Amino acid sequence: LRVLSVASEMFPFVKTGGLGDVTASLPAALAPYNVETWTLLPGYPAILAAIAKVSSRSIDLGHVLGHPAHLQIAQINGQNLLVLNIPVLYDRPGNPYVTAEGYDWPDNDLRFAALARAAATIAQGGLEGYHPDIVQLHDWQAGLTAAYLHYDGDSPLHANGVSQRPRIVQTIHNLAFHGSFPLTDLPVLELPPQAAFIDGCEFHGRISFLKAGLFFSDWITTVSPTYAQEIQGNEWGMGFDGLLRTRSSALTGILNGVDINIWNPAHDPAVRFPYVVGDTIGRLSNKLALQAEFGLPQDRNAFLMGVVSRLTRQKGVDLLPDIMERLLVSNTQIIVVGEGERPLHRAFSALQRKFPRSFACHIGYSEELGHRLPSAVDTLLVPSRFEPCGLTQLCALRYGAVPIVSRVGGLADTVVDANDAAIGRGVGTGFLFSPIEGATLAATVERARRLFREDRKAWSQLQKNGAATDVSWHEKSAQYVRLFAKLAGVKIVEPK
Ligand code: ADP
Ligand code: GLC
Repeated sequence: LRVLSVASEMFPFVKTGGLGDVTASLPAALAPYNVETWTLLPGYPAILAAIAKVSSRSIDLGHVLGHPAHLQIAQINGQNLLVLNIPVLYDRPGNPYVTAEGYDWPDNDLRFAALARAAATIAQGGLEGYHPDIVQLHDWQAGLTAAYLHYDGDSPLHANGVSQRPRIVQTIHNLAFHGSFPLTDLPVLELPPQAAFIDGCEFHGRISFLKAGLFFSDWITTVSPTYAQEIQGNEWGMGFDGLLRTRSSALTGILNGVDINIWNPAHDPAVRFPYVVGDTIGRLSNKLALQAEFGLPQDRNAFLMGVVSRLTRQKGVDLLPDIMERLLVSNTQIIVVGEGERPLHRAFSALQRKFPRSFACHIGYSEELGHRLPSAVDTLLVPSRFEPCGLTQLCALRYGAVPIVSRVGGLADTVVDANDAAIGRGVGTGFLFSPIEGATLAATVERARRLFREDRKAWSQLQKNGAATDVSWHEKSAQYVRLFAKLAGVKIVEPK
């Protein structure tokens, strides 16, 4: 089975969040089933630099949406990469989506339409000898591929039966981002006039790249079963709930996994004192080292909480400043590692000045701290307002940091609340709260802290249960394979 994965980021080349982790780790998880994935990515400088170090092949694609384009084909770290090299669109510094000042690149329409245009061409045999069975489109940046494939089908080339299109799977990692642009874009994007209507790419008087993917795909997946339900309702459907309800028989939620070879505290270079998964004593030295690293008192009895997050409203981290005083009682310490909205940067920096002995933050993106925190904190806080899946709570479970999470999306699907009944039966792995408000969050932190202080045995049982939770891709990749095989009409080869 051949999968063409179309994505705007992939770890370690370019990553702004969990999307990059997933596009990087899923191919290896599918490989044992004899699924070969090639990933099409925009030629950002970081990716071209990585490719320059290995042997690659370059193919002239002619013009893509009016721009001279080349496809660089390479294999790096076991990843099969197709890199779309259009310097005027992708050769620029910084973030894939926004300028240094945090504004969207003004030509994001063209940048991601070109990615989609190239994907559709490749999917239909544009690359000699390559005929994928499935095209997997990740989020809005890849969504327009489905529209090109649809409208190309009307072209004379296809009427002759020269090309056959693969099955299209649109994967939603985050429905909040629509890829919304003016309808006047259509000619520039080389889309036909009928794309401007509701049975095309139109969404609220504009063109939405994600809508194209949701409307023209053969199947839709999202990254947790609960989010798959939530997005069919109007609270979290972001305007797409009606469309998603009509497509509900072709919509599946499949949880994300993490690469357990990378996320292994025994071998993780970011972990100061390596320990084996499930060792709750061995990780204590990491707690003391992290406290020292952040200038907090080294105290193994302090209740040390961590946050590793994009600092945006989605993540609910804006609830923290107002309740900080209440959280920091009873020898509690909090460390925040995050980057995002400027007012939140300021708020957390101010808290560090106000509570120098109990609150610390690192404003910025640090892959290393993203790994070190879960190896050291007692609990990782994820208070998201919505969360399609969430990866940090999975890493926390594996590393022995007890997650405190809001009861939404993938958080609700992956953490088992340690209420009295669950503790009695020895099955809890963390703490869930709802509604998503400061007061319930603070009360849940108090509930967790009480258990930590009063019943260390029960607390370490939570850590052990978490460590025993299967956060790997194992079962999840099997679900993707079954789906892909069903769509492509092929038989699955079970791994040896
Ligand atoms: P999202 O994709 O919505 O941001 P996820 O939980 O799926 O949320 O994935 C976030 C990923 O990005 C995780 O791998 C997490 O460790 C990482 N991450 C987020 N913010 C930071 C940061 N400031 N520094 C380091 N890693 C971060
Ligand atoms: C998105 C979601 C997050 C998910 C990630 C990977 O960024 O916000 O919940 O884990 O994609 O699928």
